[in-house]
Amino acid sequence: MSGFDFSGRDSFGSRLGVVAAAAGSAVGLGNIWRFPYILGENGGGAFLIIYLVIMFAIGIPVMMSELVIGRRSQRNPVGAFRVLAPGKPWYLVGMMGIISAFMILAFYTAVAGWTLEYLYQTLTGGFSGKNSTELTAMFDSFRSESLRPALWFSVFMIATSAIVLGGVRKGIEKSTKIMMPLLFILLLVMCIKSLTLPGAGKGLEFLFKPDFSKITGTTVLMALGQVFFSLSIGMGTIITYGSYIQKDNNLAGTSVQVSLIDTAVAVLAGIAIFPAVFAFGISPSSGEALTFIVLPGIFQQMPGGMIFAFMFFLLLALAALTSTISVLEVIVAYFSEQLGLTRRKAIILATISMFVLGITASLSLGLTGRVKLFGLNTFDLFNTTTANILLPLGGLLIVIFLGWFFPGKDVKDELTNAGSLKARYYSLYRFIVRYVAPIAITIVFLNGIGLLKI
Ligand code: PHE
Repeated sequence: MSGFDFSGRDSFGSRLGVVAAAAGSAVGLGNIWRFPYILGENGGGAFLIIYLVIMFAIGIPVMMSELVIGRRSQRNPVGAFRVLAPGKPWYLVGMMGIISAFMILAFYTAVAGWTLEYLYQTLTGGFSGKNSTELTAMFDSFRSESLRPALWFSVFMIATSAIVLGGVRKGIEKSTKIMMPLLFILLLVMCIKSLTLPGAGKGLEFLFKPDFSKITGTTVLMALGQVFFSLSIGMGTIITYGSYIQKDNNLAGTSVQVSLIDTAVAVLAGIAIFPAVFAFGISPSSGEALTFIVLPGIFQQMPGGMIFAFMFFLLLALAALTSTISVLEVIVAYFSEQLGLTRRKAIILATISMFVLGITASLSLGLTGRVKLFGLNTFDLFNTTTANILLPLGGLLIVIFLGWFFPGKDVKDELTNAGSLKARYYSLYRFIVRYVAPIAITIVFLNGIGLLKI
């Protein structure tokens, strides 16, 4: 049989469980909070088209590659490269993934904490009667406070650790199988509500009508970064989940399903948000505040708005939770397999380190807001550096590894389950992994950071 066997490892129990967990990782704040504001700031419809092209041409092949690496090696990202390329420095790609995991978890859990604050505000009527200036002030003063964001961060971190403590099958798989369908239903209700608002057409036009004059090198880099962030690829989350997938799973099919779900949720989030934004005459390029300032403003002008606000922030919190568990799992798998800790000890160590790092990031808008690196506070630094630099770079190295430094027949073996599946797409996949993805990621990257002008 193909691959390495480390028996005694936990694994996902069913195909549905694999899709729920991987889609749970992919679908998150990236789709509902980040995608709409990045799209709003980068030209709307034209951004969407570039996003979709990158998703299919690069995102899906990179996801397949990570699953191949994970299932073949049965290891965390660092261990995977150590097993597949012994004695070579490729494991550093895995190390980079662990660093990204820390950085993502730090700012991501902070935003997830804000969703809990807003859930609480919805229940206690905190934003009733406030206009958009007051809502902005409320958001800014909340973020610059020291205690509350740190408190919500801690609550969220503990919830994440508790699920991971339950294990892969009984914690992650079981919880995502419940949370993901709930999330989908909540999102559909939000879309229907938004589409029935007067003037919804303008929002749809913004989302779907491309204006290519808005496209620059930075737009394409933002789209690339968003695809990587949204699919959870380029840092080993999918390698880690891949290592828990059983041998009879069709990895290509799983990648396509997960990517389609992820894209559908991003587009549905756009449909839920932009018609409402336009119906209430707000600028679509309000940035990262879009979700937290614009939407509460809109909710309270709607009949029954507080119910929708509650649903919306619950949706965000659930989506975030199914993603934070996947990031924590990367660190836990690394600590337990590479450092030889028990899973429980690994979780405690990972959680404590996250508290230290995450609370710094969460405070970065308040107390430590003056501490800046490259003109960015810790929060923005982690957000931008991971999506636009570390993840695409990780993805680039992953495809170069699989395309050029790993036996093609082993990759094929993994994608066809040792010959029992037909993989008619294989030559196309191979061509993308060897040529298209490395060249495209390099060009977009150099162009986006201004080192290349096209
Ligand atoms: N994909 C998640 C989202 O879109 C974020 C994430 C990134 C999760 C990287 C894991 C790894 O919200």
